[in-house]
Amino acid sequence: MSRKLRSQHWFGGLDKDAFIHRSWMKNNGLPDDAFDGRPVIGICNTFSELTPCNAHFRGLVEQIKAGVLEAGGLPLEFPVFSCGESNLRPTAMLFRNLASMDVEEAIRGNPIDGVVLVAGCDKTTPSLVMGAASCDLPSIVISGGPMLNGQFKGRAIGSGTDVWKFSEDVRAGVMSPADFMAAESAMSRSPGHCMTMGTASTMASMAEALGLALPGNAAYPAVDAHRARLARLTGRRIVDMVAEDLRLSNILTREAFANAIRVNGAIGGSTNAVVHLLAIAGRVGTELTLDDWDRFGRDVPTILNLMPSGAYLMEDFCYAGGLPAVMKEISDLLDLDCMTVTGKTIGANIESAENYNADVILPREKALTQQGGIAVLRGNLAPQGAIVKPSAATTGLMKHRGRAVVFESIDHYKSRVDDPDLDIDETCIMVLKNCGPKGYPGMAEVGNMALPQKLLKKGVRDMVRISDARMSGTAFGTVVLHVAPEAAVGGVLALVEDGDFIELDVENRKLHLDVDDAELSRRHARWVAPVPDMPGGYQGLYVERVMQADKGADLDFLVGCRGHAVPRESH
Ligand code: FES
Repeated sequence: MSRKLRSQHWFGGLDKDAFIHRSWMKNNGLPDDAFDGRPVIGICNTFSELTPCNAHFRGLVEQIKAGVLEAGGLPLEFPVFSCGESNLRPTAMLFRNLASMDVEEAIRGNPIDGVVLVAGCDKTTPSLVMGAASCDLPSIVISGGPMLNGQFKGRAIGSGTDVWKFSEDVRAGVMSPADFMAAESAMSRSPGHCMTMGTASTMASMAEALGLALPGNAAYPAVDAHRARLARLTGRRIVDMVAEDLRLSNILTREAFANAIRVNGAIGGSTNAVVHLLAIAGRVGTELTLDDWDRFGRDVPTILNLMPSGAYLMEDFCYAGGLPAVMKEISDLLDLDCMTVTGKTIGANIESAENYNADVILPREKALTQQGGIAVLRGNLAPQGAIVKPSAATTGLMKHRGRAVVFESIDHYKSRVDDPDLDIDETCIMVLKNCGPKGYPGMAEVGNMALPQKLLKKGVRDMVRISDARMSGTAFGTVVLHVAPEAAVGGVLALVEDGDFIELDVENRKLHLDVDDAELSRRHARWVAPVPDMPGGYQGLYVERVMQADKGADLDFLVGCRGHAVPRESH
C-alpha cells in the first residue's frame, strides 16, 4: 500500500506515544506484528440486550473478525449507542442523531483505517451510516438479518403489521385477549429484526441498493448460515476496500440515491427511508431533496409482495432471490454503473440474479401498484411537503375531502379517540399535531393512529390521517406523514380546527386546508408555541437544533462531511 495508513499515526514509530498506544493494546494478547502496518478495521457494533433485534450480534461479529484476520487486517470491535425501536422512549428517532455523533467521533478519534458497520433495528442503520459518512473512511454495512417468519394458528404473521391488525381486532371485539397474548410468542420466533418490509428491512435493502453492503445483505434471515458467511466475507472485503481506498463518498453519489429511491418503490419500503436517506445525503454532501423522492420514485411499480403492502415476509423474500432479484426485475430503471463495496458496479452485482418465486417478486404487469414510490404532497397545509405511501393506502381514499377531527397532541388523542360522544365518522380526516421532530420530541411513529373504537366496531379499517409524525414501516393505511413545517414551530398544521375541511388529492400531489388566509392569520396570532418537556440536556439541544422532516430531521450542525484527518496526539 503506497499511502501511510491512519493507524500507523498511532502504532508506527519508536517514540513514547507509539509505546503507549501499542503497549496498552497488548494487554489483551496482541503480538508485536499486530502493529506492523496491517489495516486496522473498526467493527462498529450496535449490540445491546435492550435492542432485541441486535442482541445476536456477538456471534455475527466473530465471523466478521475471522474474515478480517483471514484477509490480513487487525479487527477491533467497539460499541456505539444502540437505538432500539421496541423499548426506547419517547422514540428511538430522538437518538438517531446522538448515535451518529457517537459513531463519527469514535471512528475519527481512534486508530481506524476502515469500518464495518453492524446494524439491524430501524435507527441503527442510518445512525451508523450518517456517522461514518461524516468521516468518509472505507466503510461497509452488514445487517443482522430479519427474524424467521412469525407463525400463529397455521398462518404466517408479520412483525408490527399484525400487531396493528390484532390490536384493532381486540378493540373491535373480534379477537380474544388470550389469542392476542399467544400471538406475542408466535410472532418473534428467532433472533433478528422485524421480518416484514418495515424500516429495518427497508434500511438493510437501502444499504444494499446504495451499494454499501454485499449482495444478499437485505434478506438472509439472522439465523441462516448464509448470514454468517456474509459477515465473514464482509470482514474480508473491508480489508481490500482499505487497500483500494474505496470510501463512502465514492459510493454515495446522487445516482446511487436515485437507485435506492427506485428500489424503495419496488419493495414497498418504509416511509422512514425518506428522512434517513435525506440525512445520509446531507452528511456525505450529495445533493438530494424531498422532491427527488417523487421525481425518482413516482413511476416505479411495487413488485415485492411483502407485508405491509402485500402478503409475504422476509424469509419468503430470501428464498425468492432477495434484493438482487428485485433489482434485476427493474434494472432498466436503475443506473447500473454505480460503484459498490464489492469494487464492482451494481450492474455486475445483479447480473446473475434470478427470481425463484413470481408470487413473492411479482412480474411488472402484476405489480401491487404501478406507482409505488413515495408521493410528496404540497399545499397550504404542508408548504415544505408531506408524504404518503400509496402502496399501503386505500385506493378509494387517495382523493378525499373530509371534515377535520383534531387532536392537539398524542395525549389529547389518547384521551379522546374512544369517547363515544366524539363527533366522527369514516368520512372525517383525523389530524394529529405536535408529534414532529421538535414537538414530540423526536418525530415519533404515531402517525398511523388507531381508529376510534366505535368505527372499528362498524367494520371501518382505514381513514385519512394527517400528522407531522412518522409511522412504523410495518404499518399501513391512508396516512399522510412528515407534514412540514410541523405544528410545534407554528406550521399551518397547528392552526387546523375541528370542523375545517381538508382536501387530499394524491394523484395531483395536493394537501389543502380549506380555510382562507385571513382566518389563518387570525389563528396564527392566537397560537402559542408548546413548551418542551425537558429543558437542557441532549433533548434540549435536539429541540433547539433539529431540522424539519423535509431536511431529514438531522441536527443542523451535524450536516456535512468533516473527514478523517488524524487528530493531534493525546499525551
Ligand atoms: Fe427492531 Fe422492528 S423493532 S426492527
